[in-house]
Amino acid sequence: MPRSSSSYVCQACGARTRQFFGRCASCGGWNTLVEQVEAVADSRRRRPVASAAETTARERQPRRSEPIQTVGERPLQRLPSGYDEFDRVLGGGLVPGSLVLLGGDPGIGKSTLLLQSARAMASRVSVLYVSAEESSQQVKLRWRRLGERATPEPATELASAPPSEPPSDLQLLAETDLELVLQELESLRPAVAIIDSIQALHDGELGSAPGSVAQVRECAAALARIAKGQDTALLLVGHVTKEGMLAGPKVLEHLVDAVLTFEGDRFASHRLLRAVKNRFGATHELGVFEMRGQGLAEVTNPSELFLASGEPSAGTATLVACEGTRPLVVDLQALVSSTSYASPRRSATGIAVNRLHQILAVLEKHLGLPLSRFDCYLAVAGGLEVEEPAADLGVAAAVVASYRDLTLPAGTVLVGELGLGGQLRPVGQLELRLQEAARLGFHRAVVPRGTGLAGPAAAMGLQLLEAGSVAEALVAALGVDPADDRA
Ligand SMILES: Nc1ncnc2c1ncn2[C@@H]1O[C@H](COP(=O)(O)OP(=O)(O)OP(=O)(O)O)[C@@H](O)[C@H]1O
Ligand SMILES: [Mg+2]
Repeated sequence: MPRSSSSYVCQACGARTRQFFGRCASCGGWNTLVEQVEAVADSRRRRPVASAAETTARERQPRRSEPIQTVGERPLQRLPSGYDEFDRVLGGGLVPGSLVLLGGDPGIGKSTLLLQSARAMASRVSVLYVSAEESSQQVKLRWRRLGERATPEPATELASAPPSEPPSDLQLLAETDLELVLQELESLRPAVAIIDSIQALHDGELGSAPGSVAQVRECAAALARIAKGQDTALLLVGHVTKEGMLAGPKVLEHLVDAVLTFEGDRFASHRLLRAVKNRFGATHELGVFEMRGQGLAEVTNPSELFLASGEPSAGTATLVACEGTRPLVVDLQALVSSTSYASPRRSATGIAVNRLHQILAVLEKHLGLPLSRFDCYLAVAGGLEVEEPAADLGVAAAVVASYRDLTLPAGTVLVGELGLGGQLRPVGQLELRLQEAARLGFHRAVVPRGTGLAGPAAAMGLQLLEAGSVAEALVAALGVDPADDRA
């Protein structure tokens, strides 16, 4: 007979204690401990997991340390996900035996992305799609809707198949019981398995409810052991908490090889895929998709998405932000108007408001503009979040242009970080940014001094205006001195 015992598990960090405390001793969270009744291990305790782990352990025995020079190397094979934007974020494709966690807000399109990708991959390799949240019928309906899009080219050896019915090895399992999912995974041994979602899976041997820390951790660890043992690439969907963090303990993020987040504005149709962690590639790469009726479409030229259309207007500036190795030309707009409040209003969409405060203070101090008597609103076009300091000069130019009611000359981009002393600091990947601006038809770039890029810029058809301070940069960009009241 299995005996049962209870312990208390912190829902924030996963720490376990025998005794109840109001505050978790490990992470300091209040009221985060939840009682959990468990069956203590007995001889009947499963499992295929243990057996798989034991098998691999047996195969490996005895294992000794060895000099790193003699360790055999296996070329890293990558499996294309069917979407270049997805592959870019993964670092070039899915690695067999790797674990990828995809998080995102409810309804953002996680299931759509993975089902589309499964559809594309299934023409080349075997794919198992485990839907723990939706019924087979729901998944089938979506699969049919997504199929209305032209599916990517199948592999060459399959090219002779009739185009109307591309051959596909996609198995669907609508199941929440971990035990059954593990059995299916072991018997099918697919090249790729998708679990939608890890929070909806349930291990009957644990007393706690699905989605609790213990369940998420156990389910992910059990799946990982099997997947690693049989070289199955595992894609897990993870929920996010209302603060936007991935639900479940941090151990889940440590357990997997890559953590991707899928984000986007609910009111805009584009979606951004980012890597937060990646053991097989660079992080901070960006994939851009657009949600359409037939599913997600790749956006190969995202700069056009973030450029406001129409004639340039007062208070608009264009900057080149970099997401990973990907330059994005982005428009931003500022509105500066005299305030009717005791303390002026500052609001920023797409840029941290503290950054805006800092830039306004620099402009007030070093250009003598009385901005503390003005409200200031700032918005980045297309709902993009620009975090890097390289956007500072663009923000400053938009604010000053709105304050002076000036329009920046068409075809101008601004890149540079503002120091608190009013100086313009150099930014990384400038050449890449200039190339993107030139590609989109811009012909003037205001940049920090000392880049040494005047030659390459001229070859791209860009006039490079170098400046040492924000005042100098704004004179170069606007053609008038913004500090001069007669301007
Ligand atoms: N028939 C449809 N036509 C157009 N767009 C649709 C249609 N059905 C769903 N969508 C889009 O797909 C989105 C839902 O995508 P999906 O179910 O993949 O999200 P999810 O991230 O998996 O959500 P959840 O967290 O609830 O599982 C909707 O927000 C909607 O924009
Ligand atoms: Mg879903």
